[in-house]
Amino acid sequence: MAEARTIEQAVEFITTEMLDELDSVIVDYRGTPGSLIPLLQRAQEICGYLPAEIQRRVADGLEISPSMVYGVVSFYSFFTMKPRGKHVVRVCLGTACYVKRSDEIMQNLSKELKIAVGEVTGDKKFSLEGVRCLGACGLAPVAVVGEDTYGLLDPVTATDILKNY
Ligand code: FES
Repeated sequence: MAEARTIEQAVEFITTEMLDELDSVIVDYRGTPGSLIPLLQRAQEICGYLPAEIQRRVADGLEISPSMVYGVVSFYSFFTMKPRGKHVVRVCLGTACYVKRSDEIMQNLSKELKIAVGEVTGDKKFSLEGVRCLGACGLAPVAVVGEDTYGLLDPVTATDILKNY
């Protein structure tokens, strides 16, 4: 499958297996009204993110314009066009957390993972993001790793949460 290999080489973190799975999902959704958003959600689950090449593949598969796909991806905040690690580490930088030194937590995690905010570790295991209020201000300062929430963190020892992954 020469085309898949070309895309794999061109797009960071996307493997041939991911593209094969995506192609079979596209076939399942083709011709179903209202399928763009659920298909993009599946595409993001499979590929981890939605770069332009994946958006184009979805557009071609559904026979719609790439600009329509881009419009949806850029509109909804749960879609990302940047690669993410297997475990996404999100540190709350909302006011309640910030006054309890969540910026220090972010700095320490950044140092420990050796990546800046918005980046992915070389082994693709972690990515680091800042978020505005996770809705758990009573537990400030708060960070989440994937689906796991960690509250009342000590800025100095907060990096210990990474040991769980
Ligand atoms: S400000 Fe951090 S959880 Fe609300």
